[in-house]
Amino acid sequence: MKRVLVVYYSRSGYTEFVAKRIAAACHADLERIEDPRKREGVFQYLRSALEALLGWRPAIAPGRRRPANYDLVIIGTPVWFWNVASPVRTWLQRHHTALSQVAVFCTFGGSGHAKVLDDLEGLCGHRALARLALTEGAVDQYQLDPPLHTFLLELKRWQPTPAPLPQPERQATA
Ligand SMILES: Cc1cc2nc3c(=O)[nH]c(=O)nc-3n(C[C@H](O)[C@H](O)[C@H](O)COP(=O)(O)O)c2cc1C
Repeated sequence: MKRVLVVYYSRSGYTEFVAKRIAAACHADLERIEDPRKREGVFQYLRSALEALLGWRPAIAPGRRRPANYDLVIIGTPVWFWNVASPVRTWLQRHHTALSQVAVFCTFGGSGHAKVLDDLEGLCGHRALARLALTEGAVDQYQLDPPLHTFLLELKRWQPTPAPLPQPERQATA
């Protein structure tokens, strides 16, 4: 059986919610990118926006999973100021050479998602098997969302036996 890893960063819970759904559907391992610094409040919001805009790579905690052990790595990020969230940039800089097949997804408020998915592919150094962008609103009603099903179907073509889409409650921490 092919091994799949879903790796993501999430500040307020949306990307985490989607990551968990994808991981459950693909029988994948899950790795949250841990940012040692808190990002709550206005000042931290601005710092996050600036880091993303300038392409900075903040320190992140060492991960538990080795991406080289996986056949497919699915990478998820929130959109920050039309850019990949900076902790995800750090993770990709650290691990991009270990990646073979990738899929990418993002959650966002209203704009910048297509550029972010392009940027993720560029940072991975690979074209993605599948791409997904979900607004916060779509995350809240995810089980009705056609793009999520399309994304999972595209992965199913590559990996024959994803489980049915589970339907738990979202627990955002925003
Ligand atoms: C610093 C910062 C910058 C953001 N910039 C954008 C943006 O450029 N475009 C957009 O659509 N949403 C933007 N957002 C909204 C997030 O992309 C959106 O809320 C996302 O779903 C949050 O995911 P999370 O809950 O996993 O952190 C921004 C949020 C933050 C915190």
